[in-house]
Amino acid sequence: MDISRTNNAIQGKAKIFVVDDVQEALTILRLLLLRSGYEVFAFNNSIEAYEVAALNPPDMFLLDVNMPEINGYELCCMLKRVPGLKEIPVIFLSGLNTPEHKIRGFEVGGVDYIVKPYSFEEVQARVKTHIRLRQAEALLRQQNELLEMTVLERTAELQNDIEERKLVEIELARQIETTKEAFNNTIYTLARAAEVNDEDTGNHILRVGEFAAILAMRLHLDSDFVEAIRLQAILHDVGKLHAHPDIFKKSGKLTEEEFVKMKDHTSAGAKIIGSDKKLTIGYKIALTHHEKWDGSGYPAGLRGEQIPIEGRITALADIYDALRSPRTYKDGFDHDATYSIITEGDGRTKPEHFDPAVLKAFKETSGLFEEAYKKLQG
Ligand SMILES: [Fe+2]
Repeated sequence: MDISRTNNAIQGKAKIFVVDDVQEALTILRLLLLRSGYEVFAFNNSIEAYEVAALNPPDMFLLDVNMPEINGYELCCMLKRVPGLKEIPVIFLSGLNTPEHKIRGFEVGGVDYIVKPYSFEEVQARVKTHIRLRQAEALLRQQNELLEMTVLERTAELQNDIEERKLVEIELARQIETTKEAFNNTIYTLARAAEVNDEDTGNHILRVGEFAAILAMRLHLDSDFVEAIRLQAILHDVGKLHAHPDIFKKSGKLTEEEFVKMKDHTSAGAKIIGSDKKLTIGYKIALTHHEKWDGSGYPAGLRGEQIPIEGRITALADIYDALRSPRTYKDGFDHDATYSIITEGDGRTKPEHFDPAVLKAFKETSGLFEEAYKKLQG
């Protein structure tokens, strides 16, 4: 869009090109329009008017129709083919007063057709109307362009904001992931450290985490809890860090005093984990994974739902793995034997030790226990 032209139409005097091969008619019209306050340029041939308009476009053309070489209709057609000129209104002034001539004038792009001899008041009124219309159109175009520019600028700003926000979100997600990995590694390292005072238990801690997750999922606990228990159940024996290595590595029966010390790994584990909110599940597991549903467990002899669900789940997960795993004093049981011991009891392990809901979940998912044990064997 040609802003300079628009401004010319909106501000200052409107500029009119008058083209007529009859000098007298040209002069009269020029004087009358000048008197009405317009800037007027008079041409007695079409070519000259066309060439000047191309360099310095007016706001309106008043064209005679009958002219030698290039008549008014032809000049109008030429103007309508040029960007920057084609929007300029053209009014024909002609002595040709037939409907065909008038229609032709509109067909080639004229906005009006005034028949000679004309009254100047008529010319003045029509010129004024079309100039105002043109000014209004130019103003509208200018406002639309400003609006479009504003919208484009604002859109670009918003896109930049969105891009920046995306980058921040990506960086934040990366940092969260890094922190999560560091958190997980710390837990894993701590759990591994506790094994120093235990028998060589291979992937015992990882398997207990996996079994606990299988049970939690079957119990329809939410997915965040399932992931948390998978990770934090591996801390169940972290209290063994406090115990004398001989107690957990002893192959024979523990003395009364040793048994008391052994039981203390639960409370010691809770102390090590502490009260951090992120480790609440691990804390409860360390403290209660040896409690039993019938109240015969330790360290507090809790029963039933006094035992947190984390402890009830991990108790069964831990027993399953302990039964499956070989020790210096025993071979490991296979899956079927382990299943029987847990679900029917063997005198030492009893079904009533377990939360009935957890036991039911175990029965329903025991195939997954076998798969996970094989996968994490070693
Ligand atoms: Fe334990």
